[in-house]
Amino acid sequence: MAIDPKQVKSDLVLILDFGSQYTHLITRRIRSLSVFSLCLNGTSSLQSITELNPSLVILSGGPHSVHTPDSPSFPDGFLQWAQSNAAPVLGICYGLQLLVSRLGGEVRVGNTQEYGRMEIKVENASALFPVEKVGHSQLVWMSHGDEAVTLPSGFNVVARSQQGAVAAIQNPSAKFYGLQYHPEVTHTPEGMETLKHFLFDVCGISAGWKVEDVLEEEIKVINNTVGPDEHVICALSGGVDSTVAATIVHKAIGDRLHCVFVDNGLLRYKEQERVMETFKKDLHLPVECVDAADQFLTKLKGVTDPEVKRKIIGKEFICIFDAFAQKLEKELGSRPSYLVQGTLYPDVIESCPPPGSGKTHSHTIKSHHNVGGLPKDMKLKLIEPLKLLFKDEVRQLGRIMDVPEGFLKRHPFPGPGLAVRVLGDVTEGNALDVLRQVDEIFIQSIKDAGLYDVIWQAFAVFLPVRSVGVQGDQRTHSHVVALRAVTSQDGMTADWYYFEHKFLDDVSRKICNGVRGVNRVVQDITSKPPSTIEWE
Ligand code: XMP
Repeated sequence: MAIDPKQVKSDLVLILDFGSQYTHLITRRIRSLSVFSLCLNGTSSLQSITELNPSLVILSGGPHSVHTPDSPSFPDGFLQWAQSNAAPVLGICYGLQLLVSRLGGEVRVGNTQEYGRMEIKVENASALFPVEKVGHSQLVWMSHGDEAVTLPSGFNVVARSQQGAVAAIQNPSAKFYGLQYHPEVTHTPEGMETLKHFLFDVCGISAGWKVEDVLEEEIKVINNTVGPDEHVICALSGGVDSTVAATIVHKAIGDRLHCVFVDNGLLRYKEQERVMETFKKDLHLPVECVDAADQFLTKLKGVTDPEVKRKIIGKEFICIFDAFAQKLEKELGSRPSYLVQGTLYPDVIESCPPPGSGKTHSHTIKSHHNVGGLPKDMKLKLIEPLKLLFKDEVRQLGRIMDVPEGFLKRHPFPGPGLAVRVLGDVTEGNALDVLRQVDEIFIQSIKDAGLYDVIWQAFAVFLPVRSVGVQGDQRTHSHVVALRAVTSQDGMTADWYYFEHKFLDDVSRKICNGVRGVNRVVQDITSKPPSTIEWE
């Protein structure tokens, strides 16, 4: 259960996703213009598209060629629906090629493939490009192999690349448009201006969506769903998402919300004490702490496969929630029926396989315990008030509800905790203990250097290898730890953070001198993609 997109106070722009790494960016850009935007798998049924009643549909890019068998496409009847509902359609990159090929034009493998920054020139006047704002030529970000060579009837070319390839097309009377380049990326400097102009001046989209509206709407939805005598439980992790989700539900139903904080033995240094204190002191949320470290660690003994770890942890969490619900049933006389989770939109997007991949959920990159890992026979129904929001929107919502800034700015911490930061068997030797100490030194140093708020997420990783070192004239054979720090907008893509050498040198010395069993510190210098942020 989450807000109903139809209740949102602005037109809805729907993005049909064909697998581009930039799809979520289009959604973000449009929301930043105060217009609500959602993305749906491009191969979704016609009904799931039309029931959202979008005012504009954008067909995203994607890694496919329209010539490949089984390349993903929108459902039959979609373009007819768009025309009869006067909903404009904008194809971007693969989306343009799809539009052209489905309407009877021709797309061919390009003579020259175009990747990277290119100049395009506007050839014909079009509402698409307000030349007084963006000029007759502009730099754009291209990323395509195929190109449209014959346009369907009613279309004309609006702009071409330096190499002569079609860069923008239109059929204004049908309200079909196409851009071969990516206006949503910052490498297209006029892209945002073009999108803004397209939404408001060409399509007449009405803005007015605000994060505040989500709060009002969520409270209404929760009150309509949870009966007056029903109770709800919420597992707080100490992070932004579950805290904001619980605060919304608390606003809606007050003391019928019962929160639990599970110490699964996979928490960071002194985390239980620190988090419980903040819940009580600053948030006034009713929270009970369950110490379940042994239960989790026993189940994880000998497990090395990261997906198996995640599934085990997800399952144990649910067992604990069930037990908590049972205990409450005895106390309250009725069993809580709902579980609140702080699932975010990126969790939902990432847990779905890319369209056209031919893959099912079992091929997911990795399952977030709160999306992929829930057992089918779970008795509690879910309340996920943040399911359609990105992280920075959740922070904004928290701010509106006076959640303390310290909470809102905490770096994300995965549900499976340190289990996905100790590679291999989590329970072996003193891995967790070593990792906690290393992580604490690293994070504290980041805070001391005033970098905590600049970095999206930082943590240490325990590697299941030993290397030779020399400490105090003795040969050592000890552990290697890795430091990971990334900058990101919403965790969907990330860059590694460039620390100054002096900072890294200090941290490395502090770790090797302060933590027994570590004689080597390395830094992770990969972005996402190709890596993920967490190691497992
Ligand atoms: P990745 O590693 O997927 O991380 O690039 C993206 C963001 O999600 C967090 N993450 C998780 N959060 N349960 C969570 O609650 C999980 O299973 C999980 N896996 C990754 C990660 O820390 C980062 O912020």
